[in-house]
Amino acid sequence: MSKKHQLSVNHLLGIKDLSRSDINTIFKTADNFKSIINRPIKKVPSLRDITIANVFFENSTRTRLSFELAEKRLSADVINFSASSSSVNKGESLLDTINNILAMKVDMVVMRHPNPGAAMFLSNHIEANVINAGDGTHEHPTQALLDAYSIREKYGEVKGKKVVIVGDILHSRVALSNIFCLTKLGAEVAVCGPPTLIPKYIESLGVKVQYNLKEALEWCDVANVLRIQLERQDIQYFPSLREYAMFYGVNLGILNSLKKKIIVMHPGPINRGVELSSDVADSDHAIILDQVENGVATRMAVLYLLAQKKIGAN
Ligand code: CP
Repeated sequence: MSKKHQLSVNHLLGIKDLSRSDINTIFKTADNFKSIINRPIKKVPSLRDITIANVFFENSTRTRLSFELAEKRLSADVINFSASSSSVNKGESLLDTINNILAMKVDMVVMRHPNPGAAMFLSNHIEANVINAGDGTHEHPTQALLDAYSIREKYGEVKGKKVVIVGDILHSRVALSNIFCLTKLGAEVAVCGPPTLIPKYIESLGVKVQYNLKEALEWCDVANVLRIQLERQDIQYFPSLREYAMFYGVNLGILNSLKKKIIVMHPGPINRGVELSSDVADSDHAIILDQVENGVATRMAVLYLLAQKKIGAN
C-alpha cells in the first residue's frame, strides 16, 4: 500500500487526531468494502492471522455487533470481553485486564469505556493498535465516520452541507466527534438544545448555537438527533422529559411545517417519543438503518487501514 493511502495514525483514538485526507482514505476504502458486503460472498481474507479483542466496559448493541461483524467479514480472529461478566467485578484494573488479553497474542483492541481518555491511556501502555469505541463523554470516532459517510452517500459530498446536532450536546461523545469530522470535511455545523445541555465553549469549535428547534431545522439539510443521556446526568438539566419532547422533540408535524425536506439521523439507541417520534424514526426522512449498514463498511475500513500500516511496518 502506498503512503498516500495510509492513515497518519497508529490508533483511532478520536477524530481530532485525523486529517481530512485520513477521513477521505477511510471513506474510499469503505466504498470498496460496502460493495463487497453486498455481494453473495461477503468475506475477504484481508485480516487473516490478525486477532482482535472487543473489550466493552459499557453497554452497546450497534457498535459491538458492528465491529464484530466487520472483523469477521475481514477474516480476523475475534474475542469478545464484556466487563459485566468479567473479573473486573473482582477488582481487576483496566491495565491488568488488557495485559492478560494481550498475553493471548492479540494484535488490535477495540475498547468502549466510561472514562474519557481511557483509549489514549491504553494506547500509551500497550503495543496493540487501539480503536476507541466510545470513551465516556469524550469521543466516538467510528460513529462520526459512519455518520459523515452516510451524509456523503445521500448528498454526494459533505462539504457545504448544513448539519444541526440536536439534543444533549453536553454529555455526548457522538456530538464532539461529529463536530470534528464534519468541520474537517467542510460542512457547516450547528448545535441545538436547551441552554443547560450546550457546553459554554462549543462555539470555539467552529459551530453555531441555536436554541429554537424550528429555526435550526429550517436552516439545516441534515438533523442528527441525539438521545438524552440520563445515565451521565448527575443533576436535573430540564424540568421533565415531557417538556423536553415538547420543545426539542423532532416529530412529523415540525418536519412537515418546514419549507424543504431534510434528512434525519440518529446514532441509536432511540428513546421514541422523547427526542424523536416514531412517525419520523420510521419515515423516509430517516436514514437511521443506512447509518447502521454503513457502520460495518466504515469499521472494516478503519480496521483494514490500521492493520495494513502495522503489517507494512514489520
Ligand atoms: N450508536 C451507538 O454507539 O450505539 P450502541 O451504544 O448500541 O453501541
